Amino acid sequence: MRRPFCKAVATATVGACLVVGSTTPLLAQRKTLEQKVDSVLQLMTLEEKAGQLNQYTGDAVTGPAVNDPTKLEQIRSGRVGSMLNIRGAQRTRELQAEALKSRLKIPLLFGLDVIHGYQTTFPIPLGEAASWDMTAIRQSAHIAAVEAAAAGQHWTFAPMVDIARDPRWGRVMEGAGEDPYLGSQIARARVLGFQGEKIGATDAVLACAKHFAGYGAAQAGRDYHTVDLSRRLLWEVYLPPFKAALDAGAATFMNAFNELDGIPSTGNRYLQRDILKGQWKFQGFVVSDWGSIGEMVNHGFAKDNADAGRLALLAGSDMDMESRSYVNSLPALVKSGQVPEELVNDAVRRILRKKFELGLFQNPNRFSDVAREKKLVGAPEHRQIARDVARKSIVLLKNEGNVLPLDKKTKRIALIGPLGSSKLNHAGFWAVNYDSTGYVSVLEGLQNKFGKQANIQYARGCGIKGESQAGFAEAVKTAQDADVVVMAVGEAYDMSGEAKSRTDIGLPGQQEALIKAVVATGKPVVVLMMAGRPLTFNWTAEHAPAILYTWWLGSEAGNAIADVLTGDYNPAGKLPMTFPRSLGQVPIFYAAKNTGRPSSGDKDVLYKSAYIDQTNRPQYAFGHGLSYTKFTYGNLKLSTTQLGAGQSLTVSCTLTNAGKTAGEEVVQLYLRDLVASVTRPIMELKDFQKVQLKPGETKTLTFTITSDKLSFYNQDMQWTTEPGEFRLMLGSASDDIRLDSKFELLK
Ligand code: BGC
Repeated sequence: MRRPFCKAVATATVGACLVVGSTTPLLAQRKTLEQKVDSVLQLMTLEEKAGQLNQYTGDAVTGPAVNDPTKLEQIRSGRVGSMLNIRGAQRTRELQAEALKSRLKIPLLFGLDVIHGYQTTFPIPLGEAASWDMTAIRQSAHIAAVEAAAAGQHWTFAPMVDIARDPRWGRVMEGAGEDPYLGSQIARARVLGFQGEKIGATDAVLACAKHFAGYGAAQAGRDYHTVDLSRRLLWEVYLPPFKAALDAGAATFMNAFNELDGIPSTGNRYLQRDILKGQWKFQGFVVSDWGSIGEMVNHGFAKDNADAGRLALLAGSDMDMESRSYVNSLPALVKSGQVPEELVNDAVRRILRKKFELGLFQNPNRFSDVAREKKLVGAPEHRQIARDVARKSIVLLKNEGNVLPLDKKTKRIALIGPLGSSKLNHAGFWAVNYDSTGYVSVLEGLQNKFGKQANIQYARGCGIKGESQAGFAEAVKTAQDADVVVMAVGEAYDMSGEAKSRTDIGLPGQQEALIKAVVATGKPVVVLMMAGRPLTFNWTAEHAPAILYTWWLGSEAGNAIADVLTGDYNPAGKLPMTFPRSLGQVPIFYAAKNTGRPSSGDKDVLYKSAYIDQTNRPQYAFGHGLSYTKFTYGNLKLSTTQLGAGQSLTVSCTLTNAGKTAGEEVVQLYLRDLVASVTRPIMELKDFQKVQLKPGETKTLTFTITSDKLSFYNQDMQWTTEPGEFRLMLGSASDDIRLDSKFELLK
């Protein structure tokens, strides 16, 4: 058995260890967490307090790192409280040993961007969001935590819960899409998955809801750009997933690079002190984003790095990631009276509390377990789950003439496109500890599935980027020799992600031209679109008979895709973001307002809120996703059509699998408040259920509409309901409503 850390060190050590180690177990048990925290805090010098609030990057970098050869020395002298980007049980132990050479021996907290898996890579978060499957999403986050924790991580910088409505913004890949309700459900599932049974369990890590707040609303979809949101939009759309993460117990929050209404989020008191720590009573700590404290100088908000530190601390930012503002300036700021020491103490307390809860004072290496790391990281059972989550994330956009599923007896299959044999790209932008050599490519997935039964020929056709069509002839020939063609096209892993904004969201390079050339052969073509954002591909959408949107699916991509192609898994994914026809429509999202001049259809454009050169309709709507079977909806019943204030309404309907294949449907419930003191969106997702049905089976589904689902922020920004009529819509997508009714909320 591992001996508690404090007993293992010399009895003459000072500080934190004595506080815990010298008390009897019974006494120690009786001590509240607060007493323990205070007992450490009172021993700390101002410099050590500033050190606790300081976080440095380590071996790898996920941002613009500063070359600092003195880091080790700073760790030994108690000037560093946390490190990010240190991977592996052995490496975290080594650095922890350095921290234990410091006067108070306060252990380091290790954080890492474990966004969609540690080594076993799951689909990118936007892809997982398309599963609308909270159990799967929670499980994926949990496995990421199991692996990361075994490898010495205490903390993940996830989930990113930023609402994103602009596909130019590369970080849409990291979130849950455009909708606050779906986003909130997913935020909750991810936090619960990462944090497991409890903070301190060695199969769990601290979660971090980021980026607080509004980061996804960057102007023109350009990363780090200015954000100017109305209070209404902030509260109605951008804050709910953060609140959901908090309610699920998120231990930490990260603030954001962007300014909001003229004030950088990192120095924003309203966000951090008034809302988060005030109104929401958040007990955890806030970490800055990478260098975001120092960047307030560039924003023109702080005059130098020290001033930025002052503003950030006063605004409620507790830990400084890579700005060096706190460690270098806080002691002097306190001594000169510019920052009250009590605020520094509060920030230190918040961090120490987490270190205690994680059990690091008892055993600083309890997460860094080489044997456990060997056993759990990339474990085969994790791969199985990754395959299942990957299948669940795939969206069937189109299936004309039932080209899919492929007949398993197909003899000749052509696989064409630059992503056909690729492994690395399935990692997506945010895989931080992957080994893509172990990933399953589409080619391998098809080979695994069809074995010797089929002759599978692969032709790359063209690169992901670039102008060369030199490979077209071979690709066309390969298609001509096949019974069916599968095309693997899309973005490279580094085309959507942080600082990966694009002004053109079309299929890059010559890929759409390649699709045209292959479709022209007249062979049945199935297009697999792999990307980190909604792409525009109008020609393909119109002419390719079958399209699967597969995002970047992680370790098991090829197997999952083969499962779906052959019908071993019936696709059930639904888009968590609207797919525009052109960039000119952006921002485009389903929960739009009606306007004073709504257009009734594509031809109704004269003096209407419409375009003269394109429809208002997206290419694929929010919630869209097909299945190999057909679902019919019926028997809509409302418990009442006149609802008393404060009462709940029960809605039921039947769902029937009218096809010949078992399948799952995501039944989506939308509401519209028809007349209110503030204009309301034409529809808002308020509930959904993912239902599995055998062929011919019918189930009755029940939804409860509570008064919260009818509420909104009125003109005084009070969360309230108003009497009046509501429209209720149930359907298979936001543009595929199958059942429709109205009810009235009484005074
Ligand atoms: C990103 C954060 C990330 C941090 C650490 C920043 O550039 O915005 O989301 O957690 O780097 O890697």
